[in-house]
Amino acid sequence: MKDDTSIRGLAHGDTIHDSAIKHVTGRAEYTDDMSEPAGLIHACLGLSQCAHGRITAMDFTDTLAQPGVLGVLTARDLPGVNDVSPAGRNDDPVFAEDEVHFWGQPVFAVIAETRDQARRGAHKARIDYEALPHALDPVAARDAGHGYVTDPLTLRRGDPASAMDRAPRRIKRRFEIGGQDHFYLEGQIAVAVPGEDEDVVLDVSTQHPTEVQHMVAHVLGVPSHSVVVNVRRMGGGFGGKETQMNLFACVAAVAAKRWNRAVKIRPDRDDDMIATGKRHDFVVDYEVGFDDEGRILAVSGDWFARCGFSADLSGPVTDRALFHADNAYFYPDVELRSHPMRTNTVSNTAFRGFGGPQGVIVAERIVEEIGYALGRDPLEIRKLNLYRNGQLTPYHQQVEDQILPRIFEELEASSDYHARRQAVLDWNARGGVIRKGIALTPVKFGISFTATWYNQAGSLIHIYSDGSIALNHGGTEMGQGLNTKVAQVVAEAFQCDIGRIKITRTTTEKVPNTSATAASSGTDLNGMAALDAAEQIKARLIDFVAERWQAPRDEVSFVPGHVRAGGQDIPFDQVIAAAYMARIHLSAAGFYKTPKIHWDRATGKGRPFYYFAYGAAVSEVSVDTLTGEYIIDRTDVLHDVGRSLNPAIDKGQIEGAFVQGAGWLTCEELWWDDKGRLRTHAPSTYKIPLASDRPRVFNVRLADWSENSERTIKRSKAVGEPPFMLGISVFEAINMAVASVAGYREAARLDAPATPERVLAAVNRLRG
Ligand code: MTE
Ligand code: MOS
Repeated sequence: MKDDTSIRGLAHGDTIHDSAIKHVTGRAEYTDDMSEPAGLIHACLGLSQCAHGRITAMDFTDTLAQPGVLGVLTARDLPGVNDVSPAGRNDDPVFAEDEVHFWGQPVFAVIAETRDQARRGAHKARIDYEALPHALDPVAARDAGHGYVTDPLTLRRGDPASAMDRAPRRIKRRFEIGGQDHFYLEGQIAVAVPGEDEDVVLDVSTQHPTEVQHMVAHVLGVPSHSVVVNVRRMGGGFGGKETQMNLFACVAAVAAKRWNRAVKIRPDRDDDMIATGKRHDFVVDYEVGFDDEGRILAVSGDWFARCGFSADLSGPVTDRALFHADNAYFYPDVELRSHPMRTNTVSNTAFRGFGGPQGVIVAERIVEEIGYALGRDPLEIRKLNLYRNGQLTPYHQQVEDQILPRIFEELEASSDYHARRQAVLDWNARGGVIRKGIALTPVKFGISFTATWYNQAGSLIHIYSDGSIALNHGGTEMGQGLNTKVAQVVAEAFQCDIGRIKITRTTTEKVPNTSATAASSGTDLNGMAALDAAEQIKARLIDFVAERWQAPRDEVSFVPGHVRAGGQDIPFDQVIAAAYMARIHLSAAGFYKTPKIHWDRATGKGRPFYYFAYGAAVSEVSVDTLTGEYIIDRTDVLHDVGRSLNPAIDKGQIEGAFVQGAGWLTCEELWWDDKGRLRTHAPSTYKIPLASDRPRVFNVRLADWSENSERTIKRSKAVGEPPFMLGISVFEAINMAVASVAGYREAARLDAPATPERVLAAVNRLRG
């Protein structure tokens, strides 16, 4: 079957994901599917069995006696540094040296002829520990006097203390918010192939090939130019492959150089879940002051995060939680503080929304509290407090592109919100076992990396003399459709058929010093960089065509399949063949950096975000008050992607993000025992949403009238993360259903995730 034929000829807006057919027919090649180099050997990590302790002895006698085992790697065997910290803090060892800081920390790796032999060998090792005290959650860590893994942040505007004092009403509470495992379908994997001299080439599943390249170089003690990292595609990343691949890649590379054979490392699902970081759980203490109308006057809050034993990305993640603690609402006087707590757990990392969801959900809790306190529909409180253009966020960025009033209006109408809410109230008034809830919640999500220098991208375009185009950019494909969108941009620039363009794998050899494909900015950055390269080649071709076909330069243009020169249309192929013969350079490297953004962390002021993406969802749920189980009856989404580059892909992102967001807040629960062992480390104990958990009725629409007020690629907006937070509508609806058992006299105040156990406990508590 030929994929391309079905893609050709469609309008750009209808372009299907370039791998869609390969995905569903199982022919898409993931790292583990690639044909294996001759002599491939395998590595398996040995994980600590102690939450915090000193290593007193390591005995590999039985390991080395196992059939097929070639040897063991420990910290002493690393030629360069023993650190893969993305934050540059030297706090993320590849292998623990003297001390282990969490249960499951890599201590050694076994190298063997087969994967199974490496696993068996790892289980035969004997490591002795002298146990030290441990603290697992952020509150315990604070009580035990653990410090921060990275500098905390305070965002402040106005005088929140006196505004709080003056407020006619106040509410002060604690909210606990759980973490989440990425559960990418393809786990972590790296294959390293040694070359001559210091060279090594890796095929890995990572969102950040450049960082893997740099980390491997540091750990091998060689320059970056000796390391090549390739990524064809990932079977999902969701933030879990932004930094977490570093360690695996380094182990494979070190073993490859040591044994001079190709090495593959692919952990089991259990080891992957135990040894890699997750979404941060938070304990948030919030206080809100408001008036009798429901207007928010002052907000203060402390975000305590379970960061794990090292910094990893906890700095920017906890920062982003604060950046989104207002969600869509204006807080006149405000102070928000982050507390990135060091805990004896795996180091937590990026996960879709990057801390933003743990800010947004607190804003929604605050609004809900006010609604219940005043006996009003929380939606009224939401509308009353929405930002107006010109108002300042807690980080002193002016909101200039607010479109939520229109989104609310259209969504209230299309979802029939008011009539359905009345029906829900009437249903609950009958007092049955099944209770219903409905909620409309918005999202406003800031787009750009808050580390300003990451907002750059590169690309490389070659046009071969047969007129076919090879396109490369620094972004990575993880299912989100980035390659398709970037190819569309280039196809439109040259007015050529998208089938003419091949996006090759991402490789550090073609585009260097790239940023992670993250912060939803993949298309914004790489689309622009690709356009820059295309425009350079176009300019050369226009000069050439003007001269060769004797037309004024301003009468040369690209039209479908052709270049128009005055009165004649010359086929694209013919132009390229002629340009080659005339020695025109048919290759270009493009570059882009996001304009306008700046951020001063010390003062907590700036414009960290180029623009905001907006959206809203209405969800209705039914809750069984005897068991705590629930279903999502219906969800309506209206989401803003600016001028969509690809409506089908954007809708797919919105649906997937919504379901993943709902999963975070409902069925996905991480649980550590008191020894610090993660006991939810496989699908048997950790439940992601199934197809059957999706809303029974699911209406997803794009706000097709929206266009980005900033000059983004084709005036589109980023889509990868913002709709994740629409899942909060499910959580709020469950809260309403639960609150009904006590006549809505108080908010249900469920902690997240609202597992059936938690729901049942809340029902019983409210019934007193
Ligand atoms: N979609 C799929 N199918 N798989 C993924 O791993 N990751 C999400 C989102 N959508 C992800 C996804 C995350 S966390 C981000 S930051 C963005 O995609 C990254 O890609 P983009 O910047 O190209 O949108
Ligand atoms: Mo996404 S969490 O920024 O990889």
